[in-house]
Amino acid sequence: MTRILPIDGDSLEMAKSIIDGGGAVAFPTETVYGLGANAFSTSAVDNIFRIKGRPNDNPLIVHVTEDFDLFKLVDYVPEYAKVLAKKFLPGPLTMVYPSKGKVSPSVSCGLDTLAVRIPSHIGAQKFLKAMGVPIAAPSANISKHVSPTSAEHVFYDLNGKIDLILDGGCCQGGIESTVLDCTGEYPVILRSGLVTREMIEEVTGRCGVYAYKEGAPARSPGMKYKHYSPKCKTSLFAPDKIKEAVKEYDGAIAEGIKALIMCDGKTAQSLRRDFGGRELKLIILGNTPEEMAANLYAKLREAELTADYLITIAPDNRDGVMAGVMNRLSKACR
Ligand code: TXA
Ligand code: MG
Repeated sequence: MTRILPIDGDSLEMAKSIIDGGGAVAFPTETVYGLGANAFSTSAVDNIFRIKGRPNDNPLIVHVTEDFDLFKLVDYVPEYAKVLAKKFLPGPLTMVYPSKGKVSPSVSCGLDTLAVRIPSHIGAQKFLKAMGVPIAAPSANISKHVSPTSAEHVFYDLNGKIDLILDGGCCQGGIESTVLDCTGEYPVILRSGLVTREMIEEVTGRCGVYAYKEGAPARSPGMKYKHYSPKCKTSLFAPDKIKEAVKEYDGAIAEGIKALIMCDGKTAQSLRRDFGGRELKLIILGNTPEEMAANLYAKLREAELTADYLITIAPDNRDGVMAGVMNRLSKACR
């Protein structure tokens, strides 16, 4: 049985004995819940891949405390990365550096780089301090399923597979950290998140965005996999295809399929206005980009539990935080 405990002296002591014994503990961060293990132990890290059913070429992020000396683990930190770290850390930004090769090779799946993250969540910092070692952690979900933003989400996916979930409430951020390649002359976003391209450019003047092309070797292996998927049928309609989405919904309902439409607050308003005479089952993501990021995974999990078919209408904004939201939404509804 998996226990869910609030973060206090007793639960951290229990966590420490699990981590010291080569096991895995789920813990909250400001983005999503992580499934952590001792980054120095190959068997502990391999165990995480096993628990999640994660492909063994998709590397993990190492989580460290605010005061951790980065040079224990990485070879080189460019000037721009130092400035970015000062501005955004602790926070939802993961930075990829040339690795010193000190942690288990399983963390980076044999790559010569290392992804490092300093979470700002107070519970995460307490956990990391108490463990006393860098913690390798992916999101605490079964591979390819929707990421967890509450202890209950973790329990749903991992009950019976791990001993302990540290409960820090619902994650405020809601989508995973921005992954930023800091091995080159200028930073390149490998995965978009709450620290946006616009925010990084404001500091560094230049920021690339890596776009993965199907079939090519991936710079961030995570992007080639199916991800964030609810366990029901899904489809994604462009913001200007509202009528088509409603037609799809009507068709499904006529066949007796439990269908839902997911959209932002603005689209919900126009649906109610234009199709007001009808009863449409809606899941509303939120109104602002930050709200939508915070709600996205909980709404996808709600959808899979209540519907057989999730029809999503994409919000029409793609800038800033919405780049990250749309990245997850399009992978979830692929
Ligand atoms: O917010 C987050 O980042 C959460 C919380 C738990 O910290 N963690 C998370 O981990 O999302 P995960 O394993 O689900 O995603 C890690 C991403 C993957 O896309 C992986 O390919 C990329 O980071 N990554 C890890 N190490 C890398 C490296 N050395 N080079 C390039 N990409 C790397
Ligand atoms: Mg993940």
